[in-house]
Amino acid sequence: MCGIVGYIGHREAYPIIIEGLKRLEYRGYDSAGIALFDGTDLKVSKTKGKVLDLENRVSSEISTNANLGIGHTRWATHGVPNDINAHPHYSNSGNLVIIHNGIIENYDSLKKELITRGYTFKSDTDTEVLINLIEDVKLKENVKLGKAVQIALNQVVGAYSIAVFDKNKPDEIVIARLGSPLAVGIGDDEFFIASDASPFIEYTKNAVYLEDEEMAIIRVNKGIKIRKIKDDTLVDPYVQELQMNLEQIEKGGFEHFMLKEIHEQPNAIKDTYRGRLLVKEGIIRMAGIDDNIEKFLNANRIIVVACGTSWHAGLVAEYIFEDLARIPVEVEYASEFRYRNPVITSNDVVIAISQSGETADTLAAIKLAKANGAFVFGVCNVVGSSIARETNAGAYTHAGPEIGVASTKAFTTQITVLTLIALKLAKAKGSISNSDYRYHLQELELIPEKVAKALKSDEHIKQVADIYKDARNCLYLGRGYNFPVALEGALKLKEISYIHAEGYPAAEMKHGPIALIDEQMPVVVVATKKGHYEKVVSNIQEIKSRKGKIIGIVTEGDIHVKELADHIIEVPETLEPLSPLLTTIPLQLLSYHIAVMLGKNVDQPRNLAKSVTVE
Ligand code: F6R
Repeated sequence: MCGIVGYIGHREAYPIIIEGLKRLEYRGYDSAGIALFDGTDLKVSKTKGKVLDLENRVSSEISTNANLGIGHTRWATHGVPNDINAHPHYSNSGNLVIIHNGIIENYDSLKKELITRGYTFKSDTDTEVLINLIEDVKLKENVKLGKAVQIALNQVVGAYSIAVFDKNKPDEIVIARLGSPLAVGIGDDEFFIASDASPFIEYTKNAVYLEDEEMAIIRVNKGIKIRKIKDDTLVDPYVQELQMNLEQIEKGGFEHFMLKEIHEQPNAIKDTYRGRLLVKEGIIRMAGIDDNIEKFLNANRIIVVACGTSWHAGLVAEYIFEDLARIPVEVEYASEFRYRNPVITSNDVVIAISQSGETADTLAAIKLAKANGAFVFGVCNVVGSSIARETNAGAYTHAGPEIGVASTKAFTTQITVLTLIALKLAKAKGSISNSDYRYHLQELELIPEKVAKALKSDEHIKQVADIYKDARNCLYLGRGYNFPVALEGALKLKEISYIHAEGYPAAEMKHGPIALIDEQMPVVVVATKKGHYEKVVSNIQEIKSRKGKIIGIVTEGDIHVKELADHIIEVPETLEPLSPLLTTIPLQLLSYHIAVMLGKNVDQPRNLAKSVTVE
């Protein structure tokens, strides 16, 4: 959580940092701040609220002709979101300035120790403790900033990516990383620092990603020097070429990133299977699976670890892997798995699913699985992310940057990758007939145009949204492959509209939730033709008899649900294992329109952040 940006070089730092912070707001947006140094004056401006509030404040508060600066957009951990707790923080002398993404877990004992040494604190943050610890070390040990940062970090327990500078040494920024991402853009005698590469892609395509437990001293004219924080070993910077471009991270005429990303799904799914799904040849080509096929085929079971929407994609994978490839699957919340002493053996294959590739709990679950000898395969969207690097092998989803906090195209592209893997393994195991295999390949290739067709119901969905926007509660039901879709639909609604919503397997309704149903209760039922249709129709009857309002997500041409439901939204017909790729679409649009009608901040819902790098 939190986004950090820094610049040192010959350009004006302010526009780079402010624009960069806007691109990183998906990481947190409860307060923002900036520190600029023009060689004489250090100006720090911070505010509760969004980067736009910071921008308004800065224009009236500080001069902007500085070539050195750092900025921060916050998702509060220690201390409420307010002006004082916003970053940057500076040391008691006023010389050292820091921005920090992460948590210092032993901040309390460090703070007490610093107080006995005469330090005072303005904020409630762990970050102000860290910058004073660095200052204390620097003065006590009479060392340069880089060394002081290193010694201080060796006393710290927790997670961080930080950028620090000393106003007495304006040609240098010191950065460090443990558990939170940090990228450095390398220009001509200029350096860009950011939580991901999006803030600097128009300036340079060359980036170095710091690994955990590494720090770097960046000096204009002298370059970047990377060291291990623990033992001082020098590390050769590995410069990667970035594939991202500017258009991918702009709204492209849509009102919100979420809407843009919903509409990008036909292309995103195509990008996911491009070069992998070779229908004519009857081949699925995935290097990460090809190179490790024996591990999968000999696995006792597959354990999926993930959080949130990615966990829902994992649940779809459970159905599809067991159904097609006949491999037992367990789907685990990464946060539970990592702490419950799970039984893991070297015959287990773990699949970790994560859009951001930075989710702290998923990362910890991966480390635990690896330590117990399991083979870990990553399904990530963000190239070069921590999870992509920590796993033994993997497959990217190639969805392009997802900026809306509510996950949409990440979900459908994760399912696409998982479907490709399941089909590939099913073929290798012989658990699917050749004709069925070919049929699935052909149908998967058609999914993008069917998603495009499902998106055409947008206007109708908007009308349905208008009718139910004032509901206080909502139920989502589905069976089989559409049960995870029901969970995902409910999550989408609650996270962006703040309407309470629950997803259930349709038949479970009788075991409790049915008590909630009355004429006020909208019930979204995913009832496609192939997904236990008759049984779901019976569940719809049960809701109808209790006067619930029914919104049916049905296959084109449906007649039975149409007779019972108050509204139906059609999706094209497909094979049952592929149906989540279509039934998800109207649920995303329904949530989107309700949230917009309620005036909610769709791209940045309250209390959330895109990348959950704290546990
Ligand atoms: C919901 C959502 C979250 C994420 C979850 C995991 O719309 O986006 O539930 O799915 O925080 O994030 P990743 O996939 O980045 O590990």
